Amino acid sequence: MADSTKLLANELDNLTPQQIVAALDEFIIGQNAAKKSVAIALRNRWRRMNAGEGIRDEILPNNIILIGPTGVGKTEIARRLAKLARAPFIKVEATKFTEVGYVGRDVESMIRDLTEIGIGMVKQEMRDNVKPRAEEMVEERILDILIPPLPKKRKKSVYGSNPALSSNDAGFNPSTASDEELNERTREKFRQKLKNGELEEREIEIDVKASSGQTMQIFGPQGMEEMGMNLQDMLGNLMPQKTKKRKVKIKDARQHLFQEEAEKLIDHESAVQIALERVQSTGIVFLDEIDKIAGSSSKSGGPDVSRQGVQRDLLPIVEGSTVTTKYGMVKTDHILFVASGAFNVAKPSDLIPELQGRFPIRVEMDSLTEENFYQILTAPKNALTIQYAAMLGSEGITLKFTKDALREIAKIAADVNRDVENIGARRLHTIMSTVLEELLYSVPDDISEGTINIDRAYVSKQLDQIVTNKDLSQFIL
Ligand SMILES: Nc1ncnc2c1ncn2[C@@H]1O[C@H](COP(=O)(O)OP(=O)(O)OP(=O)(O)O)[C@@H](O)[C@H]1O
Ligand SMILES: [Mg+2]
Repeated sequence: MADSTKLLANELDNLTPQQIVAALDEFIIGQNAAKKSVAIALRNRWRRMNAGEGIRDEILPNNIILIGPTGVGKTEIARRLAKLARAPFIKVEATKFTEVGYVGRDVESMIRDLTEIGIGMVKQEMRDNVKPRAEEMVEERILDILIPPLPKKRKKSVYGSNPALSSNDAGFNPSTASDEELNERTREKFRQKLKNGELEEREIEIDVKASSGQTMQIFGPQGMEEMGMNLQDMLGNLMPQKTKKRKVKIKDARQHLFQEEAEKLIDHESAVQIALERVQSTGIVFLDEIDKIAGSSSKSGGPDVSRQGVQRDLLPIVEGSTVTTKYGMVKTDHILFVASGAFNVAKPSDLIPELQGRFPIRVEMDSLTEENFYQILTAPKNALTIQYAAMLGSEGITLKFTKDALREIAKIAADVNRDVENIGARRLHTIMSTVLEELLYSVPDDISEGTINIDRAYVSKQLDQIVTNKDLSQFIL
């Protein structure tokens, strides 16, 4: 346990609040207040884990509510943050939960899902760790299929080359050599060929798990899902795995066998331990649409009652409770909750007071300006212009945008947001795809090489008719 905690601390080690903000800046334009808050929250967890034993458990995370209109980067900030922290992260819509006793998912399921994500993450890291060893074992298995070792040899290690046999080439005489020696020499030759990648196209027969197409859906009794158990899983383990033989190329067999070998090499028990620990101390839950479960204060019953019920169900989880998952108990005390919502109709003060108290930090996100849009089009590492250039690059076309063109797109985005509806930076996606539609359709049939320069005139040509016609832009942009 101590080891895994150390591992966690090291991972977050080198990011100070300002470094976190700088890293977020690579992807998100503006929204400085929000970036600052999440950076502090993230660093605080590192601070907690490095604080004295006695006080560590007392320090609670500073849950955050991000408030702002649609498409201004709320989800994006949370997602990038989780990536930075390499923390288990889950985004859930608050609206998908219903109160205990109603039909629908109970709120605890998000912690189970988060745990599942944590397990997946840790196992992936472990798989990466054993990769060289697993690949070696895969080669030996392929070798065994190509040139099966003689039965007697089987008992001895078949892994790795046998130096006694390969080094004394001079003394080797095929006519007096034993079958075993011959076999091992042939294997050694093929081992070399395999390593050099000379046999990748050759086909071999391997066992693959039969696709479970005909398994039946089993419905467990009510309450099973709450336990995080699954009858199907349980029965699946009891029934023998069916396999069938398939002919595949060696290069494909490698991938398939790698999964199997890696699976054997990783220590599943400690994966679970590390994952549980990681979920508990670094997990991040992003609760989207929190405003939609804030009932207006009318006491008329109906949907409001159910929404408030969901809020009540959320309380213990946000506050800190223990959730049973199929991997073990998960304490939620130190999981960071970031809630977000537009709060157009409801206000944060429409949430039940107890829940408001559990989200002490409120950050207002700014509406995006035309200047922001221009930045968003150009600056982020994953900017739309870069994405489209990469797509067309794959067809051998170089795509370039002039500054004017991007200014124009930013302006149109801001205009349409103002005149039709404000959907924030998502507007850039719709506009960009309209601007480029014709080009994307022409490549590679009509245009198969060269550089395409998108300038202002081109943008106008593609968009003017639509922009000036409000009815049309409502549908298209
Ligand atoms: N400030 C920003 N900088 C860079 N890209 C942004 C910014 N805001 C939004 N985007 C881009 O716009 C898209 C939508 O953003 P995001 O999903 O974060 O919206 P949101 O604020 O969560 O909206 P909603 O309330 O509808 O969920 C994303 O593709 C994101 O990359
Ligand atoms: Mg969102």
